[in-house]
Amino acid sequence: MSSATRPDESASTGRRPVTLTKLGEMRVLGEPIVMVTAYDHPSARVAEAAGVDVVLVGDSAANNVLGYADTIPITVDELLMLASAVRRGLRTPLLVGDLPFGSYEASDEQAIATAHRFVKAAGCDAVKLEGGGQSAERAAAIVRAGVPVMGHVGLTPQTATALGGYRAQGRTAERARAVLDDALALQEAGCFAIVFEAIPASVTEAIMPYMEIPVIGIGAGPATDGQVLVFHDLLGLHGDAHPKFVKRYADLRGAMIEAVGAFAEEVRTRAFPGPEHTYGIAPEEAERLRALLAARPGSAHTRA
Ligand code: KIV
Repeated sequence: MSSATRPDESASTGRRPVTLTKLGEMRVLGEPIVMVTAYDHPSARVAEAAGVDVVLVGDSAANNVLGYADTIPITVDELLMLASAVRRGLRTPLLVGDLPFGSYEASDEQAIATAHRFVKAAGCDAVKLEGGGQSAERAAAIVRAGVPVMGHVGLTPQTATALGGYRAQGRTAERARAVLDDALALQEAGCFAIVFEAIPASVTEAIMPYMEIPVIGIGAGPATDGQVLVFHDLLGLHGDAHPKFVKRYADLRGAMIEAVGAFAEEVRTRAFPGPEHTYGIAPEEAERLRALLAARPGSAHTRA
């Protein structure tokens, strides 16, 4: 969905829908860009209310909400369902859908068809894909087909095995140069922004002067134009180990366990529900009901 067709929330929130132009202006003005992932309607509404600029329906939904071990198995259909729910909860942030592994690599035609599904079926404003090289060619094809593309370099989880696992990238001069080459290829392909994931801060600093589009970092240090964190990581929604670059701003898993535990305790002790959670009936209706039941054959009264 283009920003032109998204409902303009300015009247109720004071914020206008975030556009690609706006992100470019923020980069030039040095205003940090805020991006989070979201995978459902409630998290989208949180992102909206918190005033973030970009929401990514990341393929990290695979491990964060669907219970897969990594991002490889998640399908286009699964992500489209999640992205549609996010779309219904968002008005202001730019919505980016992640193209999952196996949905864009085979050919330009495959990449374009998948990108179009994210726009047409889920209402995404843009898509994201991982890697440089051939992915940059796919990005160029998708951009030519009318869909804005966000690139992703450094640690690219879809190809983590080939990268030696989930580890920081660009830690030798040659590997850092390779990250720069990937980023430049995506920039030349027409990407409107790029994610830098798990790259030493000094490498990011060295690359930034070459970048003319917004760079959003995750574990790439402070020199980028913005930062992204995974919703579940920043809120502490799961108890799993997390990468060094994650900062936990809350312990919602702890709060949720405590709340559900309190509910369980109150059910077991019959402290819940209380009168304030219970519907009433007019006394005369209650009286009539008692009379009706008493007259009913087989009722407790007639049986006795
Ligand atoms: O899928 C995802 O969550 C991502 C972010 C880490 C940028 O790609």
